[in-house]
Amino acid sequence: MVDTSVALAGLRLDNPVIPASGTFGFGHEFAELYDLDVLGSISLKGTTREPRFGNPLPRIAECEGGLINSVGLQNPGVRAVIDEELPKLARVFHKPAIANISGFSVDEYAECAALLDARPEIGILEINVSCPNVHAGGMAFGTCPENAAAVARAVKAAAKKPVFIKLSPNVTDIAAIAAACVDAGADGISLINTLLGMRIDLKRRAPVIANRMGGFSGRAILPVALRMVWQVYEAVDVPIMGLGGVATAEDVIEMMLAGATAVQVGAENLVNPWACPEIIAALPRAMEQYGITRLEDIIGGAHHG
Ligand code: FUM
Repeated sequence: MVDTSVALAGLRLDNPVIPASGTFGFGHEFAELYDLDVLGSISLKGTTREPRFGNPLPRIAECEGGLINSVGLQNPGVRAVIDEELPKLARVFHKPAIANISGFSVDEYAECAALLDARPEIGILEINVSCPNVHAGGMAFGTCPENAAAVARAVKAAAKKPVFIKLSPNVTDIAAIAAACVDAGADGISLINTLLGMRIDLKRRAPVIANRMGGFSGRAILPVALRMVWQVYEAVDVPIMGLGGVATAEDVIEMMLAGATAVQVGAENLVNPWACPEIIAALPRAMEQYGITRLEDIIGGAHHG
């Protein structure tokens, strides 16, 4: 009998598998497909202070090994999330969820964090300083250590629950940015968000995506995500939620060996809406195959001195 549970910033998760923000709505939409309580947790759709319609269409471009999105943080705003989405989620998911927060100013991040921190449905705040699809805010905060740290500091001052900062891979030194966030009080790091990319429509001789560029995610980015989780694990001493290209139980194990405590599944939910329960069901067998009794024991297990 293997043990798939992990401790994440004071929460005990039955398993480390978490649908990633932006690929799973506010969770309750998936309850008609399967019992959500099999999941470790859920990272909810990115939330801003005001409602956002998002970017013009088309917003999606298919690619080999993944897709590019430029959704533009479409969401109903933090008040509607609290009044409408969280009560719906609470009816079908009975574990602490992860609120994913985006913003266009440090104050906006802090205000949304304070509001969501007060909700009993929320166990962790994940602060997204890495959205590549908005012209101000988002990734602008996450590509500079000082700006990322300013957000982390303000959110920590506004909230009591654990704060994870979600980082962008579109940087030269991810470890320096993670370290700045941890110095500013962050309790954990999520990485990676999407890689900035684009496609050109040959007939129109123009970018496929209306916003020209977007975030590339999917199976193709797993090696980049693993490399960055590895680097951040060596640089900081807080838990990491690893994501980027995860699609199988073996990918989860690989992410944890690189240093992740929990593992988010993103684009694969869009390919296969049952991806998360299938990965969770496959984990015990994969663990047995690699001689793992307690999953927690392998965190960072590929770093040897
Ligand atoms: O465009 C989007 O809403 C994407 C957000 C993100 O990647 O963080």
